[in-house]
Amino acid sequence: MPKPAPDTQAAHSPNPVQWPLEAIWQAVAPTLPGFTCEMLTTVDSTNAELMRRFKGGHTEPTLLLAQAQTAGRGRLGRQWHSAAGDSLTFSLGMLLSPAAWSGLSLAVGVSLAESLDPACATERHIGLKWPNDLWLAGSAGSERKLAGVLIETASWEGIRYVVIGVGINIRAVHVPEGRQAAAPPGHLQLLAPTLDAPGALLRVLPPLVQTVQAFSEFGFEPFVARFAKRDVLANREVELSDGQHGQAHGVNIDGALLVHTASGMQVVATSEVSVRPGAGRANTEGQA
Ligand code: BTN
Repeated sequence: MPKPAPDTQAAHSPNPVQWPLEAIWQAVAPTLPGFTCEMLTTVDSTNAELMRRFKGGHTEPTLLLAQAQTAGRGRLGRQWHSAAGDSLTFSLGMLLSPAAWSGLSLAVGVSLAESLDPACATERHIGLKWPNDLWLAGSAGSERKLAGVLIETASWEGIRYVVIGVGINIRAVHVPEGRQAAAPPGHLQLLAPTLDAPGALLRVLPPLVQTVQAFSEFGFEPFVARFAKRDVLANREVELSDGQHGQAHGVNIDGALLVHTASGMQVVATSEVSVRPGAGRANTEGQA
């Protein structure tokens, strides 16, 4: 039985965090043969490390968790900053062959949001900002990015390996001088004060694996309504990175954003989207 591999340095630190790798492995391995879990004290990026391993011939499904990343990667070539202990940073790597890939990052967001916030109360809940951000949402003017997802793929001899990287702010983070965003990032303990990083990992990981497997079989369509329930852009005035603006109208079955602009309904597959300042609630870009 391939055992989860706890990091030795972490095991000898004065107050080692208890990561529930065994419980995760027990929950996931029956449906994902060959699954392994590993925790590192430090790595440049869990996504980069899984990609290196794939290129070195490692194709087994793997959960790689890091207490700290020295070069965490965000979307669009950005950096992802996270302080050890304040965040949950992990990547799930596995072979995958869905009929279509579009919508995977949205399905991952749905899964994470539902696991961390099943109630989805109106006043304060985890919302989804297309394409792959989790926001702490609910009260006007207080929306904050809570988590981000970075999906990368690589192919070798006809097989495709996907790495799903997830960064979740757990506790209030200290943002270094000069890096402050317009608003401080959100963190999970504002919603669930007693939930720590190991508890959050145990909650999200088994359902995430199921989500990825369901996506592979059925595509994004089963997730459309679930995304819509938490869609923070719905019916709001948004601006696209090419300068177009209009009203957001949800996502289609491919996970593309629908935006009604002056020139008609646009189907936006890739773009940066922000809520227009002064048009609804505040535009909030989180730690990335
Ligand atoms: C984003 O919002 O830009 C995506 C951020 C994704 C960050 C996670 S942290 C774990 C994994 N490893 C990385 O280097 N990035 C992802």
